[in-house]
Amino acid sequence: METLYEKLSALQESTNRMNSVIESLETGLMMVDRDGLIKVVNHAFGSMFGLPVDQMLGQHYDVYLSAYNLSPLLLESMETNRPVRLEMPLFYPQERIVEANLTPIQENDQQSGLVVVFRDLTAFRHLEELRKDFVANVSHELKTPLTSIVGFTETLLDGARTDPDTCKEFLQIIYKEGLRLQRLVADLLDLSKIESKQVPIKMDIVSVQMVVHDVVETLIEQMQAKNLRLLTDVAPLMVKMDTDCVRQILMNLLANAMNYTPIGGKVTVKVKQDDPYWIVQVMDTGIGIPEKDQPRIFERFYRVDKARSRNSGGTGLGLAIVKHLVELQHGEIEVESTVGKGSVFTVRFPLEYSEV
Ligand SMILES: Nc1ncnc2c1ncn2[C@@H]1O[C@H](COP(=O)(O)OP(=O)(O)OP(=O)(O)O)[C@@H](O)[C@H]1O
Ligand SMILES: [Mg+2]
Repeated sequence: METLYEKLSALQESTNRMNSVIESLETGLMMVDRDGLIKVVNHAFGSMFGLPVDQMLGQHYDVYLSAYNLSPLLLESMETNRPVRLEMPLFYPQERIVEANLTPIQENDQQSGLVVVFRDLTAFRHLEELRKDFVANVSHELKTPLTSIVGFTETLLDGARTDPDTCKEFLQIIYKEGLRLQRLVADLLDLSKIESKQVPIKMDIVSVQMVVHDVVETLIEQMQAKNLRLLTDVAPLMVKMDTDCVRQILMNLLANAMNYTPIGGKVTVKVKQDDPYWIVQVMDTGIGIPEKDQPRIFERFYRVDKARSRNSGGTGLGLAIVKHLVELQHGEIEVESTVGKGSVFTVRFPLEYSEV
């Protein structure tokens, strides 16, 4: 037969187990009895509200929750004996959005208290906002060129085509906007592939000088047409990299340097070793980026000057793609820039990924 001692220690064990479970929860949990006295409260709850859980046990919930306008809710749930759900913002100790679930508990057909569970929805709501913004941005970006294609085609059909000069001019606009759409869709597909990690990384040991040389070759004519000087200062490094990725990163950074540097300016590509990294820098003497915009230029569709970027055919996705490609290879990217003087984009790749 089980002794009293055995029973007590089994009970103690079960209580300890229950306490560990409650403490390990990421959701905030509180339990009050029918008089509103706090019987259980976990640390997640404390850190969510910035409250001292050790002092809360045995106190009335009102002492701690009235500041959050929660007391009437607890009262309502207890009085009506119904669960209550509500989403609310918290401003202290951190800005968060939390969901509160209040569930009355019954014992022997009698109301014996309330369990209150708080879930942190901040990250979830933030993602939802990002998705909404993204859809709104994409729709807008698609609508602009489409409107102009449809508009100019209509005007041509309505008779403008009979004048050869107008006809040519309008067709050129339609062609240009068509190209924009094509680029936009290609960039979006690229981005979504990279984001969903569908791009396999293929690391080879390659000469950086060769990769830079290849990219520079493809851009040199456009640079010359804009009377830009292109300088390279590339250390003779053999590093492990995904060549296509690095090429695309360079292409995008150089295209920006070119687009945002006025005629007569200078663009420099520098590659050097700086243990434990190898570093690629693209510098220009262009228009620069205001400090307040600098943290945002890697966001999808973010452009400092929409009109200027649109004129150069930009979709605002270039740097977002670059950032993802850099991160795929465990690198980091940062920008330093002064308005009117120029910008420096620095990409840092860990050498451990490139050791032979
Ligand atoms: N070298 C630079 N000098 C000045 N501004 C820059 C430079 N690089 C980027 N920017 C700013 O950052 C914004 C975002 O650049 P990003 O490359 O993502 O888009 P984009 O060049 O407008 O379009 P695209 O998708 O064709 O690259 C640009 O619109 C521009 O305002
Ligand atoms: Mg760009």
